[in-house]
Amino acid sequence: MPHKFVVSGGARLTGNVTVSGSKNAALPMMAAALLAKGTTILRNVPDLSDVRLMADILDTLGCDVTLFPQPGVVVIDVVDESNISAPYELVSEMRASFCVLGPLLARRGEAHVSQPGGCTLGERPVDLHIKGIQAIGCEVAFHRGNVIAKGRPTGGRVYLGGSMGPSVTGTANVMCAAVMGSGVTVIDQAACEPEITNLAEMLIAMGAKIRGAGTSRLVIHGVDELHAATFDVIPDRIEAGTLMIASAITRGDVTLEKCDPDVMLALFDKFTEMRVPFERLDASTVRVNCPNRARAADLTTLPYPGFPTDLQSPLMALMCVSEGYALVEEKIYPERFMHVPEYRRLGADIRKQFNTCIVTGVDKLHGAPVAATDLRAGAGLILLGLAAEGETDVLKIQHVDRGYDRLEAKLTTLGAGIKRVEYQPRRRAGERSQRNRAA
Ligand code: EPU
Repeated sequence: MPHKFVVSGGARLTGNVTVSGSKNAALPMMAAALLAKGTTILRNVPDLSDVRLMADILDTLGCDVTLFPQPGVVVIDVVDESNISAPYELVSEMRASFCVLGPLLARRGEAHVSQPGGCTLGERPVDLHIKGIQAIGCEVAFHRGNVIAKGRPTGGRVYLGGSMGPSVTGTANVMCAAVMGSGVTVIDQAACEPEITNLAEMLIAMGAKIRGAGTSRLVIHGVDELHAATFDVIPDRIEAGTLMIASAITRGDVTLEKCDPDVMLALFDKFTEMRVPFERLDASTVRVNCPNRARAADLTTLPYPGFPTDLQSPLMALMCVSEGYALVEEKIYPERFMHVPEYRRLGADIRKQFNTCIVTGVDKLHGAPVAATDLRAGAGLILLGLAAEGETDVLKIQHVDRGYDRLEAKLTTLGAGIKRVEYQPRRRAGERSQRNRAA
């Protein structure tokens, strides 16, 4: 039976909450465990359905994966290196599984990975991953929807800039392929996201030679062997941002612990413009105490250190109930506005044209049934439900479970009215006629 969230609006969130580890760092780091025989231990891994799916993929690739023997700990033991194929059934469930391509190729000399399809964020091609792998001396062919990559990386010059900026998982794949092999690889227009820096630091701990992590130029000297390591995943800046916005949208007073404020400057800049007061209490603690209504401010999503696309729908939720109006421009995924019709069902005033929306703040939202179209849309709907009058039923919460670690438990601790309940899905026509026949 599927679940939905029933969100009762009106409560002001208060208290302390701990931020979990980053999904988008943990997934490529789990894939990178394939680069070394032996036991990799990752700490501060969030408990998410995407993490469980990556564990299933690693299992098919010859790893014994132990999930959460202690909170946050994932143990990956590479025991059999004979399989080189990641099947469509698993890859089609989660795009991040394409991150096994680089590690498999580097360590096993060949990789067959299903080409991911499009998703609700848009087309999402993988041409930059392929171009990068080819530029470091590997052959790539396509067969029955699979990417077939062969050959040991020999180094080369790679340019990863696409029309929408550098690719985050593309950088992860090319970096993971280049660390083992001969020659020197220089990647220009590499993604600078903190999750890529975290991955580079893990690879360095495994014996890789990488310079420039966190900048747009990575210089990698290939080595013959890497060794398994124990490594910590960074805090999730998108979860942290979502919880900070939850505080602002409920005019609450929430303190976030174990986050990294240094990688959240774009959100803080928006908070300043929007008159959302925040305070950095120490290196890993931020308080958002927002007694008054926020003021809408224009927003453009950009690659890091610009404003993250993954916080576009949560911040748009706050704009919906702010004073004034704002332009929201999506420059990473021009089609990432599937949440807009759902926001309107709650009373939001949003006009959309191409990759831009005009959001005019309203005084009141009213609860209604809505459905999550993707992970961050689901988070935005929960935020709006917290601010709306009455009850908001958020359906399709499997999207939320993919990327937020115990979100409803964290919100409940802060005083939110949110419950996970089972519901009876709509009967299909065939099932109805069967019942009629039985009658
Ligand atoms: N792109 C290309 N060619 C490519 C790859 C990407 O044109 O070969 C385009 C994409 O279509 C998009 C832009 O480049 O327009 C950026 O895509 P990118 O490759 O950077 O995205 P990704 O690596 O597939 C990661 C996160 C996403 C996040 C984006 C952007 C992971 C596992 N996923 O995806 O996270 O939105 O970077 O920051 O790291 C989420 O967590 O909700 C999520 C979708």
